[in-house]
Amino acid sequence: MQSVINYPNRGNFGDSKYRGNCSGYVIRDLIKQYYPSSKPKKFVEIFSGGGTGKDVAKELEINNSLHLDLNNGWDALADEIPTGSDFIFSHPPYWDIISYANQRNSYSNNDLSNKMPYEEFIKKLDIVNEKIYHCLLYGGRHALLIGDVRKQGKYYSIIKDMMWFGELESHIIKIQNNCVSDNKAYNNNEFIPIKHEHLLIFRKNKIWVFNVKTTSTIKNNIMDVTNITWRDLIQATLQYLKNSATIDEIYNILVKSKKAKNNNYVREKIRQTLNNNPNFQKVKDEWILCVE
Ligand SMILES: C[S@@+](CC[C@H](N)C(=O)[O-])C[C@H]1O[C@@H](n2cnc3c(N)ncnc32)[C@H](O)[C@@H]1O
Repeated sequence: MQSVINYPNRGNFGDSKYRGNCSGYVIRDLIKQYYPSSKPKKFVEIFSGGGTGKDVAKELEINNSLHLDLNNGWDALADEIPTGSDFIFSHPPYWDIISYANQRNSYSNNDLSNKMPYEEFIKKLDIVNEKIYHCLLYGGRHALLIGDVRKQGKYYSIIKDMMWFGELESHIIKIQNNCVSDNKAYNNNEFIPIKHEHLLIFRKNKIWVFNVKTTSTIKNNIMDVTNITWRDLIQATLQYLKNSATIDEIYNILVKSKKAKNNNYVREKIRQTLNNNPNFQKVKDEWILCVE
């Protein structure tokens, strides 16, 4: 296996009509990679959907495997994960992109594919991922397959927003084939369609202590930072002032910046920066931003 994988043909595993299913080759090649001449003690598949992993287990003659999903009565949030596994493959819903309640014909409050705010989905996914980590045997692995989502023009990187439990051993990019978006024509030339998924391999390599990685977004204001140049502050000010301003107008804004607090010659600094930077040009009494 290498860090980019592509299976244009999903293989004869599970229900090929099950929406959002994955290629059985992903699971098969992972198991072959980690167990070249043996078998997992117990292979557990969480979010087993249309039975892809079950057919992989059959092909590899793994008798000790479990394939768990709401569609066979097992709830990842409410139920315990059976113990004794050294290899867990999970393929959660990509938020609410596909409704599995429709697929099952029954609603569950705990379905991770229900319509819900993104933050709630991430919280629920974190709960499941932590449960998976804790039930693994020492030395065991959790392989998680999930994609990114774009909704109403906003990009959501699920792997970035969720918590990571344990040690990341590999990050594999899986090329996405047969997407609904494949035949879609996009009017917007700037739009980059998503054609990949992420396969993360986490290893439990400590018994007691475990790493939890989280990401956070800090909303900052350039007026409140010092690690910014005067040129960049002036550029922002000119854009804010619709690209034309006198030196006084620029000064009145930037004198309130954190950078100005550390400088006794703010007006001089602004004048010097305007004069020394070819991107700023003087037209009569006003300065404009001139980007060639
Ligand atoms: C992306 S699909 C998995 C597809 C599967 N890998 C396959 O190849 O068919 C996600 C699955 O998560 C299941 N699911 C959603 N919430 C769940 C929960 N709380 N507990 C168990 N399964 C859940 C859905 O029923 C769906 O089958």
